[in-house]
Amino acid sequence: VKPSQPQQFSNAPQQNRLAPAFVAPYCAMMQPIRLGPLVLETPVLLAPMAGVTDTPFRRQARAFGAPYSVSEMVASEHLVSARADMVRRAAGGDGVGPLAIQIAGREPKWMALAAKLCADAGAAVIDINMGCPCKRVTNGLAGSALMQDPDLALTLIDATVKASPTPVTLKMRLGWDMTSQNAPEIAVRAQNAGVHMIVIHGRTRVQFYNGQADWRAIRATVEAVHIPVIANGDIQGFSSARTALAQSGAAGVMIGRAANGAPWAAGRLAQGLKLGAPATMPCGNAIRESLLALYDDSLNFYGAGLGAKVARKHIAWAIDAAEALGPPEARKALRGRICRMEDPNQVKRALRQLDFHSVKVAA
Ligand SMILES: Cc1cc2nc3c(=O)[nH]c(=O)nc-3n(C[C@H](O)[C@H](O)[C@H](O)COP(=O)(O)O)c2cc1C
Repeated sequence: VKPSQPQQFSNAPQQNRLAPAFVAPYCAMMQPIRLGPLVLETPVLLAPMAGVTDTPFRRQARAFGAPYSVSEMVASEHLVSARADMVRRAAGGDGVGPLAIQIAGREPKWMALAAKLCADAGAAVIDINMGCPCKRVTNGLAGSALMQDPDLALTLIDATVKASPTPVTLKMRLGWDMTSQNAPEIAVRAQNAGVHMIVIHGRTRVQFYNGQADWRAIRATVEAVHIPVIANGDIQGFSSARTALAQSGAAGVMIGRAANGAPWAAGRLAQGLKLGAPATMPCGNAIRESLLALYDDSLNFYGAGLGAKVARKHIAWAIDAAEALGPPEARKALRGRICRMEDPNQVKRALRQLDFHSVKVAA
């Protein structure tokens, strides 16, 4: 029996046309994950993406059923040295599901203080960033640069775990480059220091985002530790998630760029993996209403000027993906026209008229 192939969005009720014997192996791939008191029944995680997965976006992702999402990275030092607004933005408020805040840094003191601050602000999980490849971050010896110095990395992890009253997780890459794929070694040390879960992006830092994520290479870390390891990188939907799980042996998946303009992506994937077949898509009306809600939420969250600016990329991605809106050039023109509008009411009027009934999506 073949899995159903709902490439187009539809209003059709959720169907699982697979025979139970065919479904079972996929269901067995995803066991619940426990992070202290928190249980993730279906470990499909929305990745932290600076400039993308802010609170308004994560609220929409949650509304579509995303089991878990992580805040954009916040620099521990900045977080502590005063920026009340940074804490507010990272903590966000209700509606994102379990609150995981990601911190980055290179000094144990700031990491410890930041972890405590985040927990006080309501974080259920503190995530440590050891995967960011940006020169701005790695030149400051944070992010993925820490993979070159596991001893320093461990002092940061240790300080964070000791200071945090809530579970700590770690996100990293395979290593700095092909010749130093030390994720398993760091994972074992992190586990021994008390880290609850590890996410591995299946690329090295030197690769940035080039080439294809190597899900098979994640397996060495999965086999080195007994805490859950999550596979990340190039997971688009049901089919790639299934392959990533099989190749890596990971306990779950994290989905990043495939959620650009698609806040339903993680929820839909979770639903699909739970049922053993790709889930149907939200209908066009739900997509349009979600975009309008995201827009309003951004205006409230950041204030009208910044909020309108921040929301533009989401509008642009959503229009890019909406094939019902015409050929790519037409969508590009439409997107440009709406994104240049200054008056939020005009933007909303324009969005209300858009047809999202056919949206490009990976299986
Ligand atoms: C625009 C953008 C911003 C990102 N910001 C962060 C971040 O703040 N923290 C982090 O750990 N990873 C960050 N990442 C990496 C993603 O979390 C993820 O590991 C990577 O995109 C690979 O997954 P994907 O192929 O599903 O997108 C970012 C990626 C992108 C594209």
